[in-house]
Amino acid sequence: MNAGGTFGGVPTSAPGGSVAGTMPPVVRTPVPPSPDAPDPREDHVADALPFERPPAEAKLGPTGRPMPDLPEPRPVTEHGQARVISMCNQKGGVGKTTTTINLGASLAEYGRKVLLVDFDPQGSLSVGLGLNPHEMDLTIYNLLMDREVDIREVVVPSGVPGMDLLPSNIDLSAAEVQLVHEVAREQTLQRVLAPAMADYDVILIDCQPSLGLLTVNALTASDGVIVPLECEYFALRGVALLKTTIDKVRERLNPKLEIDGVLGTMYDGRTLHSREVMERLVQAWGDKVFQTVIRRTVKFSDSTVAGEPITTYASASAGAEAYRQLAKEVLARCLDE
Ligand SMILES: Nc1ncnc2c1ncn2[C@@H]1O[C@H](COP(=O)(O)OP(=O)(O)O)[C@@H](O)[C@H]1O
Ligand SMILES: [Mg+2]
Repeated sequence: MNAGGTFGGVPTSAPGGSVAGTMPPVVRTPVPPSPDAPDPREDHVADALPFERPPAEAKLGPTGRPMPDLPEPRPVTEHGQARVISMCNQKGGVGKTTTTINLGASLAEYGRKVLLVDFDPQGSLSVGLGLNPHEMDLTIYNLLMDREVDIREVVVPSGVPGMDLLPSNIDLSAAEVQLVHEVAREQTLQRVLAPAMADYDVILIDCQPSLGLLTVNALTASDGVIVPLECEYFALRGVALLKTTIDKVRERLNPKLEIDGVLGTMYDGRTLHSREVMERLVQAWGDKVFQTVIRRTVKFSDSTVAGEPITTYASASAGAEAYRQLAKEVLARCLDE
């Protein structure tokens, strides 16, 4: 590689030796590295470097902070006293449902017992797990409206070992109207989930894209909230209102409610604006922003069509790996304490 006698464009020996002095020195203009050329800092040349390698922890992640070394989740032998976490953002299409399915499936891979709650009348979570909205016997609507119905009658297996689902369909939209007349209307979901708390380690609630009564029910039933945010311009619009809603629920209905984390989704590191949105997220939310970032890939829509999580549909894909890493981060942050 160094046969031409240059290092970094500087001649190290004159060709022919004695000609120096009789001829002007050969000055070669450094050739800019092509974008495909291997990064000279890569491992295979690092051993030959005359200086110390920068410490591994100096490696910055997509959020601009050093990537932590996440511990392997500890194995569990007993289950129960679930932590309830809502996926919440009143904006649609930001990755709430995708995150519910794939974070749930990843936590189940790590041996946790997981219950997913479809709390959106659109029923995308149920459909995304292969259920037919017209063929549901009982849904969460029945559970909320009829005190005779037990949660165990409504829960169905999700197809992923260790992960169950409380399904929903359009019937749930009627619940929002009917709940208004109930006593303790904000606590209804909390009440119906209570008998299942001992059976699961984590309950993930997929909220609808609004801050109405269903979402307030979800927040009242939760220990934590994860806010998925699309890494696009305008992603931060409405976030102040979401924060105010969370604060109000904490003050008036549920003092234990915490923000477990803010998750950047549909990130595209090649675009400046994805990186800028990430930077602004970290400025606004600091350490609440998960180190894990979910990149944009069509594999997510493909796996929805297939009716399964990306962790089984494309188990080795970058998307599946990202959700496994998120699961590790969530476990380290708020489950394995
Ligand atoms: N990281 C991603 N990259 C590309 N597409 C995604 C990603 N996450 C979600 N999607 C797709 O974007 C759409 C909206 O995502 P979804 O999870 O349903 O959002 P929400 O529940 O917030 O409305 C879906 O079609 C989904 O497959
Ligand atoms: Mg959704």
